[in-house]
Formats: sequence, C-alpha cells, structure tokens
Amino acid sequence: MRVLSVVGARPQFVKLAPVAHALQDSGCEHVIVHTGQHYDADMSDVFFDDLRIPQPTVHLGVGSGSHGVQTGAILSSMDAVLEEHKPDWVLVYGDTNSTVAAALSAVKLHFPVAHLEAGLRAFNRRLPEEHNRVLTDHAADLLLAPTDVAMGHLASEGLAERSVLVGDVMTDVLYTVRDSLAGRVPPLPEGVSGRDYVVATMHRADNTDDPGRLRAIVEAMAALPIPVVLLAHPRLVARAEVFGIDLAFGAIRPVRPLSYPDMIAAILGSSGVVTDSGGLQKETFLLRVPCTTVRDETEWPETLVGGWNVLCPDPAGVVRAVARPQPEPSDSVPYGDGHAAESVVRALVDRMK
Ligand code: UD1
Repeated sequence: MRVLSVVGARPQFVKLAPVAHALQDSGCEHVIVHTGQHYDADMSDVFFDDLRIPQPTVHLGVGSGSHGVQTGAILSSMDAVLEEHKPDWVLVYGDTNSTVAAALSAVKLHFPVAHLEAGLRAFNRRLPEEHNRVLTDHAADLLLAPTDVAMGHLASEGLAERSVLVGDVMTDVLYTVRDSLAGRVPPLPEGVSGRDYVVATMHRADNTDDPGRLRAIVEAMAALPIPVVLLAHPRLVARAEVFGIDLAFGAIRPVRPLSYPDMIAAILGSSGVVTDSGGLQKETFLLRVPCTTVRDETEWPETLVGGWNVLCPDPAGVVRAVARPQPEPSDSVPYGDGHAAESVVRALVDRMK
C-alpha cells in the first residue's frame, strides 16, 4: 500500500509523526508532501528533527498568503504530485488550508482520500478551520475520527458509513514525548522558574486580527499575578506589530515558539495554560494541567469535564479563570490509549480491500 500524506502546518507535523512510524513498521510505502504553509525553522524543521519524521519527499513551498491564494497555490501544485506518485490513499490531517486543498485535488483526480481527525466541529462558521474540516469530511472517502463525539457529528451529517473511530494520534505523540523527557529543563525566560508561571499561546484569526480584541487579550494576560511565558506564534507577532501592541508588557514574557518536547516540559512545569489552540487544550487535559481557553467554543468538549479546561470568551474573565481552584483529580481517557496511529494504518489497509 502506498500512502501519500499531505502536511503543511505545525500541528500536522505532530500528527504525522506517529502515523509515519506506524506506516514504516507495517512496511507500507509512504510519500510525504510538505506544502510549505509553515516555513520558519521553529514552525517546521524542528518537528521533523525532534519527532524523527522522515524528510518530505516533495516540498511545494507555497508559503503565506490569503486563504484563496494559499489554498489555490497548493491545489494547483498537487495534480502533478499525485499523477507522479499514484497513491492508494491520500491522507490529509486536521483542518488547515493544506488539508482542504489536498483533499480537493485528490478527489478531482479520483485518488481515495482519508481524513485524519475527522468529525470535529466548533459549530462556528466564522472559523477558517470549520470550513476546512467540514468540506474535507464531505469530500473524503474514509473518515478517521478521534472521539465518540466526532463519530456522532459525522453520523448526523450522513457520513457514518465512511467513518471509523481510531482515537487521537496527538495522544500517541504526547505520551511518547512525556515519557522521554527525563527531567528535561525547557528554555524559559530569565527569572521564570518553579511552578510560578503560566504558559500562553494565541494565534487564531478571531483573537489576533481585531486590534481591540487582541489588545484586551494582551492586557488580560499582562494583569496575571505570575509571569506569563507567551510562546508567540508568528501570526500574533505580525498582527501585534501592525496594531502597535507591545507583547512584552506587564506579566508577559514573549518567546519564540518552543520545540514540541520543550513545550511539553514547559507545560508540565507550569501552574496553568492560557490558549486558543485546539491541540493544547487536549494536551493540558491529558497532562492534568489547568487550561483557560479564550474562545466561545471547543472542538474537544471532553476537556471541559471536571473543569480542567474552561472556556473564557471574554478576556476580562481570564484573571479570575486562571485563579480558579485546582480541579478534582480525574482518570478520564477520552482520547485513546496512545496507539491510535496503528488503528489508522489498520483502517487504511482494511478499507483498501
Ligand atoms: C494555521 C491554520 C490553523 C492552525 C495553525 C497552527 C489555516 C487556515 N489555519 O494558522 O488552523 O491552527 O496554522 O499554527 O490553515 N507565518 C510566519 N512563518 C511561518 C508561518 C506563518 O511568519 O512559518 C506568519 C505569516 O505572517 C502568515 C501568518 O503567520 O501570514 C499566518 O500563517 P498561516 O499559515 O496563514 O495561518 P496560521 O495562523 O499559522
């Protein structure tokens, strides 16, 4: 079986890692296509190195652009790649512009498409991720769902026959990396140590692209009583600069994005996380570190159980949410046992027959 994976953005490299290893272990041929949506070394190369992902076979080098420009550039480059490699499956990951572009190009050329992390819904049509995941699910031939909730969404959209519950591959990576940290000390800014700090990330268009909202979020983080290690995504840095918002303000200590193992070590050492990332909500839940999510909704509702994750759409509520009492211990494991990638390979083999 020849599988052609298409990835382009940081969370997709994380998802690709266990799948690449599981495909290798089962003797499958694997072609990796990097669209180039993310291109900075700390947004891309570092993940391939740390997570031991084979180097991409093809690099499209599309870079940044508006949604139409970026999606179109991937779409127009993919025809030749698919015709050259003729895969049995085109495997697309998550909900980025790279996902929907690759799915569409494969469907048009009649190559079977499998969507990993299918069935997630925020029920918010403003989000670019929501367009990407809904369109990809309805285009794909095989829907690899991470949770029961995701399976339910797919069934209610008439997609049950194409859906398989495989678990969450990000959980595979998280457990492997957590177990290999062996006392790793993450590179934190000077003066930050112990558990007396919060880790923060903020990159979603809804939070970064409106100057008033971004300013309110930055002011809320700046007002926290302990240092806030802000792992600053390039989108956040670019928008803050355009709007004249200083990120190194109050409690905030902005730093470049960390490698995956350093980020997990930083979270484990922290007293809590403030974020708008989907993946981080899940990672903090699995590591049992309290998370405050600056959004109206979450694609990972399982994280809300017991208060390990709370939604805080109003930036004015962030200080109080971060100060909430430590949630009750929980042994809930809604994202699988850390072997989802093996189930992905099994599903691809079974459905190919
Ligand atoms: C993308 C995904 C989002 C995902 C996120 C993970 C879409 C629509 N969005 O958002 O779902 O959660 O990746 O990080 O696909 N930039 C750089 N260097 C880079 C990459 C980006 O400087 O290596 C800057 C550019 O100014 C660029 C901006 O960040 O315009 C946004 O990048 P883009 O890939 O368009 O979207 P993300 O915000 O990263």
